Amino acid sequence: MDDRERRERHRRLWEADHRHLWHPFTQMRDWLREEPLIVDAAEGVHLVDTLGNRYLDGVSSLWCNVHGHRVPELDAAVRAQLERVAHSTLLGLASTASIECAEELVRHLPSGLTRVFFSDAGATAVEIAIKMAFQHHQLRGDERRTEFVALHGGYHGDTLGSVSVGGIDLFHRIFKPLLFDVHHAPQPYCYRCPLGKALPGCGMACADEVERILAAREGRVAALVVEPLVQGADGMITQPPGYLRRLRELCDRHGALLVCDEVATGWGRTGTTFAVEQEGVLPDILTMAKGLTGGYLPLAATVTTEQVFESFLGEHAEKRTFFHGHTYAGNPLACAAATASMTLFRERGVGAAVPAKAAALARALAPAARLPHVGEVRQRGLMVGIELVRDRATKEEYAYALQAGHRVILEARKLGAILRPLGNVVVLMPPLAMTEAELTRLAGITLAAIEAATARL
Ligand SMILES: Cc1ncc(COP(=O)(O)O)c(C=O)c1O
Repeated sequence: MDDRERRERHRRLWEADHRHLWHPFTQMRDWLREEPLIVDAAEGVHLVDTLGNRYLDGVSSLWCNVHGHRVPELDAAVRAQLERVAHSTLLGLASTASIECAEELVRHLPSGLTRVFFSDAGATAVEIAIKMAFQHHQLRGDERRTEFVALHGGYHGDTLGSVSVGGIDLFHRIFKPLLFDVHHAPQPYCYRCPLGKALPGCGMACADEVERILAAREGRVAALVVEPLVQGADGMITQPPGYLRRLRELCDRHGALLVCDEVATGWGRTGTTFAVEQEGVLPDILTMAKGLTGGYLPLAATVTTEQVFESFLGEHAEKRTFFHGHTYAGNPLACAAATASMTLFRERGVGAAVPAKAAALARALAPAARLPHVGEVRQRGLMVGIELVRDRATKEEYAYALQAGHRVILEARKLGAILRPLGNVVVLMPPLAMTEAELTRLAGITLAAIEAATARL
């Protein structure tokens, strides 16, 4: 394709996009004013657009990609599965690919989590966790345990159950009349502590608030739902060490299940395969999606213990069945990709390389401390949030309408990296496969983009 043909094709696609597509989480009036960056191909940790430009995939194509794009082992696994069967159902039938995937998955899970319920998105995985926890208590005769506790700033997906346990006002407030009531506790957001306290003197007062709710609702709470170590979508809010362990103790003390949503943190992002490992915590239910297939195909899993599983067992007529399922649950193509991805984790030590890479990224981001409009850099493994502020001393935020984060990512594109902000937080969540040199380049582009964009705000 010569340059003219490439431009014409780009123009045609641009027009068709603007005519027909409605993009998620996007103000479409803004979108229709701008020329879209249209991803056409990928190679390793780079995305290539319709005009032939290459960009570092700085957010792993929405926190999914793990080993890079077009990985020979994953491509081969999906192709081989295509030669057998693209889809068959898990309702009333088993399938080779889903069995092998579940078996491999359990090898990677914290010991004690042995049952895998497949679905196709992070939101469905959480929806399942909520219903599973609820029904578990009902089946055990604990019928008063119908309530849920979650954190402000939590994000668990966009279906109504997941939104109910979510806690981001901007996304969730409008749907309030459609949601079930959830008790929300203050989030451990130390840079802007909602309780106006500071570590270590506070003694993690925010965790005390969780306890206060559990005690006030004694015997009524089915589960506490949290993102472990990092609340991703609220701006990479990192939790202090010991916080998650404390939540586990509180759940044990008050008889609630602990649901850890590892849709974002799972598969090596925080430096261990699952974030809960760093706190020595075994959740009752753990959810995952995104990186499970290496970022190739939609597959999610809600995993749990034999104890929870067994409460659903009974004679057919007792109707203890978990009446829940999605058509594409355990899709064989997605399962084949996941098995291949997990095999790379096991055989290549993909996760083991993360701490050194995270340290290299932290070093490359250190100059952010000198930028006048960077309030805080939060990092856990390869999850990074850089909070932009109008005034560093007062922590004054940029107004929503200014779209400070968006301006930064437009600058980053010019310099060769694709990022996606969360409000005023610039997020980096590179594929685990990025080399230290690529991570350093990504950090350099990000800081240059922040300087350029904030200079004009
Ligand atoms: C922690 C967490 N849970 C759930 C979800 C929802 O996942 P999905 O978009 O696949 O429904 C996300 C998405 O970012 C997430 O970060």
